[in-house]
Amino acid sequence: MGLLLPIILSCLAALIAGLYVLGVFRQRRPGEPPLDKGLVPWLGHVFEFRRNTFKFLQRMKQKHGDVFTVQMGGFYFTFLQDPMSFGAFVKETREKLDFVKFAVHLVRRVFGYVAIENDHHLLEVSSNKHLKGDGLGVMTQAMMSNLQNLMLHNINSDGEQKTWIEDGLFMYCYNIVFRAGYLSLYGNVPSKSVESEEKAKEKDRAESEALFYEFRKYDQLFPNLAYGILSPKQRAEANSLMNYFWKTLSVQKIKAKDNISRWVGDMQQAREELGMEESMINKYMFLLLWASQGNTGPSSFWLLLFLMKHPEAMKAVKEEVDRLVKESGQEVKPGGPLIDLTREMLTKTPVLDSAVEETLRLTAAPLLTRAVLKDMTLKMADGREYLIREGDRLAMFPYIDVHVDPEIHPEPHSFKYDRFLNPNGTRKTDFYKAGKKVKYYTMPWGAGVSMCPGRFFATNELKQFAFLMLVYFDFELKNPDEKIPEIDFKRWGFGSMQPLNDIKFRYRLRY
Ligand code: HEM
Repeated sequence: MGLLLPIILSCLAALIAGLYVLGVFRQRRPGEPPLDKGLVPWLGHVFEFRRNTFKFLQRMKQKHGDVFTVQMGGFYFTFLQDPMSFGAFVKETREKLDFVKFAVHLVRRVFGYVAIENDHHLLEVSSNKHLKGDGLGVMTQAMMSNLQNLMLHNINSDGEQKTWIEDGLFMYCYNIVFRAGYLSLYGNVPSKSVESEEKAKEKDRAESEALFYEFRKYDQLFPNLAYGILSPKQRAEANSLMNYFWKTLSVQKIKAKDNISRWVGDMQQAREELGMEESMINKYMFLLLWASQGNTGPSSFWLLLFLMKHPEAMKAVKEEVDRLVKESGQEVKPGGPLIDLTREMLTKTPVLDSAVEETLRLTAAPLLTRAVLKDMTLKMADGREYLIREGDRLAMFPYIDVHVDPEIHPEPHSFKYDRFLNPNGTRKTDFYKAGKKVKYYTMPWGAGVSMCPGRFFATNELKQFAFLMLVYFDFELKNPDEKIPEIDFKRWGFGSMQPLNDIKFRYRLRY
């Protein structure tokens, strides 16, 4: 008995400590949001959340209201679901709500990159210089010439190209927009390394095609990779793909290219100057590829699909594009020069802008997350206050609360190309809920410190691609009555959504 008691007591202590770590004893304290730990210790609601984030959060909102805390995989996430109070999340100081800490774990797991202290600052500096203002002009021009290489290299050859070509719309759009974006950021094959400029362009086409093929494999593994739930076989595949990207995007390979963007170049150089190992910079190059190319391609698919499914939208956008070409004094004719879509022309497309914004409203669904660094008070717009604990996470999923809120956007599941247009043709920015103006009426780019730095370039990419399709191609759905494919629920929270299945279309050059 003398020995047994200490053993029993230590087992009991270990059990209690274990249960404590599993979060079994956590109770809602006065002033805190409703707490829902779920039935399974530590894991909580993680499976339901992963299965369908949208449905889960909707269910929780119905049960608990617009602020609640749920347990998921050992973390306590407080979801803020009142759009009028989003400012409390977006504007909170970095001392209390931190994006970096959260991102550091993720980028290590999914790209193998070990972040350094001022990573985020370097990204902000380079993005402000090169993805806005004059820098954006340079990027947009590069995008145009790469799109032309990929889409129009056959334009003046006779015969075959003017016959209909059938393809999956998703794969077609993703392929072109990914490759053109990649070439614009990571540079072109130098013409002096091959016989001629034409040969260099051909090589750009072939190399970017091979890269896209591998990217798609990685892209499909991504949601489960991010959640850390790949099978050993999938994990091995993801590792070998990462190796491929680290090599293909290596500093040495990129330095041998022409026209490497300043955005990528500066970020590479800044890390070299800080003494980062080259193998680690290669990993960062892969991170940038993912961040810059994972969303625009899928969004371009939805844009073309919605236009094809809505003839009135297609007509309005096409009229605007034709007018723009005419006003610029250019003309599309067989054998003639390619249309030069200037940056200035891109600022005169309110109808296309609205169609792009509407596409993103319906199909971009990021989950915004911050680590809570200090105990804090969440102040709601209507005066309610909630205590939030240090060590927890604060999160928003604006898709439910704004993108498809019928009060803010009537008939929220319908594509209305002119939703973001005022009757006088200017951009509409006034949206209301319960009679009050909503500041964050769509959030496809996230918000605050982690807001997408590529949003202006991405918007231009989408518009340039749509423009070239409309000007140079006839295109139509193979079966115009085929339904718009379902969204792939596994990707809620990861930015632009992808369809569950592709949809056949056909296209042909008009000139
Ligand atoms: C339709 C296209 C795009 C969408 C919908 C999109 C959306 C987003 C969202 C929602 C975030 C924030 C994620 C978070 O808060 O956790 C983000 C971050 C980011 N995006 Fe985009 N993006 C797009 C295109 C691009 C492009 C073209 C680039 C670069 C040229 C880019 C570069 C980045 C980078 C570097 C970040 C990380 C920002 C940070 O860590 O602060 N994105 N994007």
